[in-house]
Amino acid sequence: MRRIRKILLVLCGMMSSVGMMAEGLVPLVNNVNGRESMSLNGDWHYIVDVQEEGYYDYRHNPMRNGFFTNAKPQKPEDLIEYDFSSSPTMQIPGDWNTQDERLFFYEGTVWFEREFEYAKKSGHRILLYFGAVNYDSHIYVNGKKVGDHVGGFTAFNMDVTDELKDGENFVVVKVDNKRSAEAVPTLIFDWWNYGGITRDVLLVDVGDTYVENYKVGLDNDDMDLIHFEANLNNKTRGEEIVLRIPELNIMQKLKTDRYGSVECAIKSHPDLWSPENPKLYKVYIDYGGETLEEEIGFRSIKTRGKEILLNGKPIFLKGICMHEEKPNGGGRANSTADAHELLSWAKELGCNFMRFAHYPHNEYAVKEAERMGILLWSEIPVYWTIAWTNTDTYLNAEGQLRDMIMRDHNRCNIIIWSIANETPHSSERDTFLGKLATYARSLDDSRLISMAMEVTGASNYVNRLNDNMNKYVDVISFNQYVGWYRDVNDASKMTWEIPYNKPVIISEFGGGAKYGYHGDKNQRWTEEFQENLYRENLAMLEKIDGLAGTTPWILKDFRSPRRVLPGIQDYYNMKGLFSDKGEKKKAFYVVKEWYGKR
Ligand code: GCU
Repeated sequence: MRRIRKILLVLCGMMSSVGMMAEGLVPLVNNVNGRESMSLNGDWHYIVDVQEEGYYDYRHNPMRNGFFTNAKPQKPEDLIEYDFSSSPTMQIPGDWNTQDERLFFYEGTVWFEREFEYAKKSGHRILLYFGAVNYDSHIYVNGKKVGDHVGGFTAFNMDVTDELKDGENFVVVKVDNKRSAEAVPTLIFDWWNYGGITRDVLLVDVGDTYVENYKVGLDNDDMDLIHFEANLNNKTRGEEIVLRIPELNIMQKLKTDRYGSVECAIKSHPDLWSPENPKLYKVYIDYGGETLEEEIGFRSIKTRGKEILLNGKPIFLKGICMHEEKPNGGGRANSTADAHELLSWAKELGCNFMRFAHYPHNEYAVKEAERMGILLWSEIPVYWTIAWTNTDTYLNAEGQLRDMIMRDHNRCNIIIWSIANETPHSSERDTFLGKLATYARSLDDSRLISMAMEVTGASNYVNRLNDNMNKYVDVISFNQYVGWYRDVNDASKMTWEIPYNKPVIISEFGGGAKYGYHGDKNQRWTEEFQENLYRENLAMLEKIDGLAGTTPWILKDFRSPRRVLPGIQDYYNMKGLFSDKGEKKKAFYVVKEWYGKR
């Protein structure tokens, strides 16, 4: 943390831009649900604003009295051509696509407004916290701009103490989920572009000086050593921060340094977290009369040659990929209940690992996986062909990486940070991703770094992986679609050359099938075709030297605007082992049996 804080302080000094810390934002607080807060979840009014009438005038210049002022006619002749209070409402958190059928395909601007009472307390600061807003958001409190943010899957917060009033207040959020080439993700991606305020909204009550972020974890090499780091929101020296883990008889008093940080290592013998034993400890951080409480597990994760070692022992990662989408056409998932249902399907498959694709999933899902004993791969949406030479695009990606790590670095079940998926080779790409990998390691050198590379072809049935990024990652992961996008029924002839002395994860493979559609195993879209494809693929993959894990694509069928085949896809990617309704396809049993033997 001291190291992170120094880095962040230096960077803050150097530049402010999209990715770094957008206007009005303050560094992300972690463990937001362990802090005192008031929820603003619930019904919010919304206005669909296709031409951004509420932001620009007819000359397309930003207006001073846009919809964010939430103006009301004061005199009979006043002309106000919008009114939040008589506009429809929708549930927040939630996407607009599944709550208003007119917005199913909609990509553009929607304004959200919510009124609330607040009683201010002196000596307290108030942070307005969003778990996630897809994609480009501008936030106003009582008509005053308090911040903006880009990126649809990471949390952000801003200090609104000075804008808040004692009593009646209102918050307005302009959300725009239009895609663009410079964005992260870029113009095209194979998932539904659910728009809106998709995760919790909270007013977080902190002291004038507060514990901004902290990290508690086991040393990867010495499993009898617990590391603790914490930092205050300002550089106050000599403040006392106390770490308590009663079950381990730990009570450590520390004084902050000139950076407002503390750091220590404590000898202890915790019961180690593992999929078989997802042991969590109650951890308390005391500062300034306030206590942050969190459940944290202790485990060691590292590699040794082509092995992945969990708590010093080799482990095979029996995984599956998953998008953050409720079953039964339900839209963006955002609760513990949503997560528990989907994670239970993965457990039924025999999984001890999941790849949360292709963006950081909500904190409830990560924590539920930790309680259920599921190891995780967490990823930022640097997906396909990103604008590699665009500085703002890089800082945007870096910002998402930072916020993913700063929110979840106390989750012991997260073992891999992934910086990219299926990105085309070029020196510009290598530079971009090389910087991201180095940055991830500078923020957290206690986890493995990877990315989903790809092998898209074979010559004479020899599949070679050749990727310059091999030197930046701890685990070599790649996607391959033998049997679906190429080489149907040739899996048995295939061999693989992966010239790196590192563990290998097959981060995607598989094929589509419509549940209940049966026929010959050579008939596309039948369950028999998918079943056969999996049988052949698993037999092929287990011959790979250094295979340390697999995450088939994908747990359940999911919505995608790129999948338009009538009667089969109907805007769903059909590669799930489960249908969107949770029906098991034949291939499910092939994977379950294979994992059962591992
Ligand atoms: C790609 C990609 C996924 C996509 C999948 C598919 O590999 O990473 O996001 O959904 O292939 O084509 O189904």
